[in-house]
Formats: sequence, structure tokens, C-alpha cells
Amino acid sequence: MSAMPDFDEIIDRRGTGCSKWDAMEAVYGVSPDDGIPMWVADMDFRPPASVSRALREVVEHGVYGYPDAHPAYTEAIRWWMRERHGWQVAAEDILTVHGLVNGTALAVDAFTAPGEAVVLTTPVYHAFARVIRALGREVRELPLRIDEAGLYCFDWKAWEGMLTGSERVFILCSPHNPGGRVWSEDELRAVADFCRRHDMILVSDEIHHDLVLPGAPRHQVMATVAPEIADRLVTLTAATKTFNIAGAHIGNAIIPDPELRRRYAGRMAGLGLSPGLFGLPMVTAAYSPEGAAWVDALTAYIDGNRRIFDEGLAPIPGLRSMPLQATYLAWVDFAATGMAPPEFTARVERVARIAANHGGSFGKGGESFLRFNLASPRSRVAEAVSRLQDAFADLQ
Ligand SMILES: Cc1ncc(COP(=O)(O)O)c(C=O)c1O
Repeated sequence: MSAMPDFDEIIDRRGTGCSKWDAMEAVYGVSPDDGIPMWVADMDFRPPASVSRALREVVEHGVYGYPDAHPAYTEAIRWWMRERHGWQVAAEDILTVHGLVNGTALAVDAFTAPGEAVVLTTPVYHAFARVIRALGREVRELPLRIDEAGLYCFDWKAWEGMLTGSERVFILCSPHNPGGRVWSEDELRAVADFCRRHDMILVSDEIHHDLVLPGAPRHQVMATVAPEIADRLVTLTAATKTFNIAGAHIGNAIIPDPELRRRYAGRMAGLGLSPGLFGLPMVTAAYSPEGAAWVDALTAYIDGNRRIFDEGLAPIPGLRSMPLQATYLAWVDFAATGMAPPEFTARVERVARIAANHGGSFGKGGESFLRFNLASPRSRVAEAVSRLQDAFADLQ
């Protein structure tokens, strides 16, 4: 076991071809020279040392031919799901996809026809709507409600009347991006029941399942909460969000029903998909005791950043950061400032020089929000807070 990571270390990512730093000027007009990128959901941290060691071994061997998924890879995934999530996964249920945007697109393509609809509970991770529309399917947006505690919740009464009968797939984001919610068992059972009653396949994207903050409710795995819908369930998980290895473009589609799995694998075969060389050893090395210790240190660190961010924003009248249970993505509502999105966004981008995701891109209900990525060294998060305080100083 190696030493604990130093998440405070400033690692210069500029000029490495990474989207978060190198594309921020083109997308937001915020220069990487003095700007703070808080948009793309990756972290400014190195992964556990076990991952870099595994990659170094591949490079030192130096022959980069076609890979084969070694049994150790599947075993590492099964070990992680059992140890960290109390979930027994059969080896044959796991299909390896090129990341979870790809995994979502495959589900939409395999289980719906052009013109049919896919349900999203919005606001939600923006790439879902992008792939649904790009595949010529309709997005059915069911807006989440904000409860008395300021958290997103499902709005079943309102939603019953909003379906048209053309919906074939329901995509759940669990834990929820951008709201940071960990759904309760009762809420997940209600989702499963809704899908059963409306005869929809449920795609449960659980990519953020390891990023639950200390003190928050435990993440519940849909497959274990609602085993009765195993015949209509696709669970998507990945090591990439947890361990900051999204560039490996690799993820798991876990499908217990043989017929659903056959249809999904059929689309993969039709598109000629198979895993790349580098992701397999990276995932195998991440899903390990060393990786587990790293994640525990990470979530504690992110929780510290969350506290600094929330405490720093609280005194600014009109700004409200949604209580974060999971993910490293703060979801801040500017509605009570009375400013329209172009005005508060200009203050954040032009005055504070921070690039944050525009809430409207997450679908209905997100328009008055910005999403801030807190997975950076603490000094940078503190600097962002100080800049936001200055940019909205006239309100105080
Ligand atoms: C809910 C959700 N699903 C999928 C992804 C992206 O997955 P991948 O990088 O594996 O395509 C993200 C990235 O932020 C996400 O938040």
C-alpha cells in the first residue's frame, strides 16, 4: 500500500490536450492563464498509484497489440461491487463499453426505435439528451421537484399524466448529477414500479456511486433494491469517474436478463465495439484495496472542499448551493438574486474568471443554476470562493 495522495498538489494540466483546461477559453472565453475551470466533470488529481503502475507496466512491455479482457479484469469489477456496494454481479452479466455515454447510447439504440421516447428526470446530466436526440429519439422531460430540505425529489403525481405511451426507456441518474442527491430505497422502488407499470426498460446510470460524501445516506444499488425488475434493468457503472481515468473511455453495462443482454450485445457487435488496451489494466488496478483507500481519502477531501465552498457562498444574498450528498459537483441556484442567466453568468465568467456549466444545458428546471466542479486542490476552490464573493459584493 503506498502513501496517501496529496490532493493539495497543484498539477499544471495546461497544454496537455485536456478538455477542462485547454478548451475553456474557446467555450467560455475564460483564459487558462488566470481562469479557474470548474466545468468538465474530471478531477485535477492523479489516480491511485496502482493505476499508474499498471499503465507503466504496459508501456515498459512496449507491445501494443489487440487486448483480451483478462479474467482478473472481470474479477476486479465483481470484487469492487461486492466489497463496496454489497452487490453480487455474475461475470457473464458484464459487457465492456467505451464509457457510459456510449453505454447509454447503446441502450437507446438497442431498446427503442426512431421516433420513440426516452424519459429523463430533469435537470440531469446533459449528454443523455444529446445522444437521445442524435439517435432520432424524443426526450420526455419529467421535471424534478425541490423539497422542503432543498433537495431534488421525484414528482410522481405530476408525472403520471405526462407520458404519451411512446416512452420505451427511463434513464435514471443515481446518485444524481447535477443535484448530488443519493436516492433512498423507497424512491428507487418507486422508479422501478413506474417503469414496470409503464412497460419501460430502466437504465440506471450509477457512475457516481463511489463518490458519496461522509455522513450522507448510503448509495443503494437499483439491482439489489428492486430485483423484481431484473428483466428490464441495465445498470451502468465505471471506474473512470471514481478514479479520474475518464480518458480511458471504458465502462460496464451490467445486464442480468439474457434476452436484454443479447439485444444490447448485438448492437455492440453491429458497431464493431471492443475494449482498448489501456483501460483494462487501469480498471483492474483501480478496483483494489489500494484504490479503495484512495477513494476514502478522496471523498473526505471533497467534503472539505464542499464545506469551504458552501460556507463561502452562504453569506452572498440570493445564492443557494444545493446540499451535496454525492459527486463533486456543486449546483448553485442564482434565482433569488433576481438576475437573468446572462447577467449572473457574465459575473462568474467575466468578473470572477470561472468557467462553470450553464444550468440550462441540463434540461428544464436548470436555467437559474450553474454547476461548479469542486474536485481541485483546496487552495483553488478557496480562490474561486473569494472571486465569487467579490463578483457579487454589491449584493452584500
Ligand atoms: C451521470 C453521468 N453519466 C456518464 C458520464 C460520462 O461517462 P463516460 O465518461 O464514461 O462516457 C458522466 C460524466 O460526468 C455522468 O455524470
